[in-house]
Amino acid sequence: MWKTETSTKQAPKDPILGVTEAYLADENPEKINLGVGAYRDDLSKPVVLKVVRAAEEKISGKQFMEYLPIGGYKPFNEKSVKLAYGEEAQCIQDGRVAAVQSLSGTGSCRLFAEFMKRYMPGAAVYIPKPTWANHHNIFRDAQVEQKSFRYYKPETKGLDFEGLMEDLQGAAEGSVVLLHACAHNPTGVDPTPEQWQELSKLMLKKHLYPFFDMAYQGFASGDCDRDSQAIRIFLEDGHDLGCSQSYAKNMGLYGQRIGCLSMVCSNKAEGSAVESQIKAVARAMYSNPPVHGALLVDNILGTPDIKQAWFDEVKGMAERIIDMRTLLQDNLVRSGSSLEWKHVTEQIGMFCFSGISPEQVDSLAKDHSIYMTRNGRISMAGVTTKNVDRLAAALHKVTS
Ligand SMILES: Cc1ncc(COP(=O)(O)O)c(C=O)c1O
Repeated sequence: MWKTETSTKQAPKDPILGVTEAYLADENPEKINLGVGAYRDDLSKPVVLKVVRAAEEKISGKQFMEYLPIGGYKPFNEKSVKLAYGEEAQCIQDGRVAAVQSLSGTGSCRLFAEFMKRYMPGAAVYIPKPTWANHHNIFRDAQVEQKSFRYYKPETKGLDFEGLMEDLQGAAEGSVVLLHACAHNPTGVDPTPEQWQELSKLMLKKHLYPFFDMAYQGFASGDCDRDSQAIRIFLEDGHDLGCSQSYAKNMGLYGQRIGCLSMVCSNKAEGSAVESQIKAVARAMYSNPPVHGALLVDNILGTPDIKQAWFDEVKGMAERIIDMRTLLQDNLVRSGSSLEWKHVTEQIGMFCFSGISPEQVDSLAKDHSIYMTRNGRISMAGVTTKNVDRLAAALHKVTS
């Protein structure tokens, strides 16, 4: 029998939630929160997309309080895989894609990790260094062995492509390689199409299994097809692969916990068997997924004019972030900083890996009421036309 006072110790605080707590406790009216990984508009307000409001109206009052099947809402799954792999993808036409609705991106990764533990026994997962911190928790809890591969080069604040290729060259056959499909979190550094091609060839040769975590489709470049180009390159080369999709960022459905886990298999029979086994994992974990978000996404993706309006809205969010990168860089130069800040505009997606030290992050919080994670990751969603000059001036101060 456990007792809280004796054997159960307080769990460590999640580093990102810790940033929000410190921000909330600060009484400075000019404080800035650059820790949170959720989109904000230029007034620092959370956004509900117009297409989501329209879809809500369409489904309101409908009979949708019943359980969904274990694998979720099938029309939603079908539209999700088309969004990821392409409307005309051969693997979909062949009927060899296993797909289940999941509890957003985290849930997809967790389901996959559990599937991996059962059906890829002894295989390790190679995780980029650094990565979204929760990847480590997810694979740890599924008791999958984790290895890392080089990804980010602090000297250039860019991709360590040589290191990445070298590390994966040495990976054991049958290992899984976790790849961020676009807008790598936390670095904002993605391989070029040519580098993805080289990587795909190497992984084919070495029999390495790609698992794409795609939490930002459309959010990186503003174009959903462009943001899934890495996956399309791997499919073109004939890989079987896994993919985690999340609608948290690109539809602003954070709290709805809506996503999709899919696995492209070698043939229809394998696809069907794999899907049945993922469902068996889901059944014991949470039985079946929630219905509301699935209906919203299905409505948006299933109505051509609303789908187009969503593309426009997602592009608007991506463009605001891209504009903030340019503005931040301009302001840093204007503030007199002689440091190199070109990575601010070269990196992509919600985050800018600024390259500042943990001590400099601490000074930003203490002296300027500006909050971010201690790895120097700036959530660009927190940057606005109103606070960018103050942020640039503070960054210049702590780095000079
Ligand atoms: C790389 C990556 N994967 C997965 C997720 C999971 O997000 P969610 O579970 O909210 O969809 C995130 C969110 O920050 C992420 O950055």
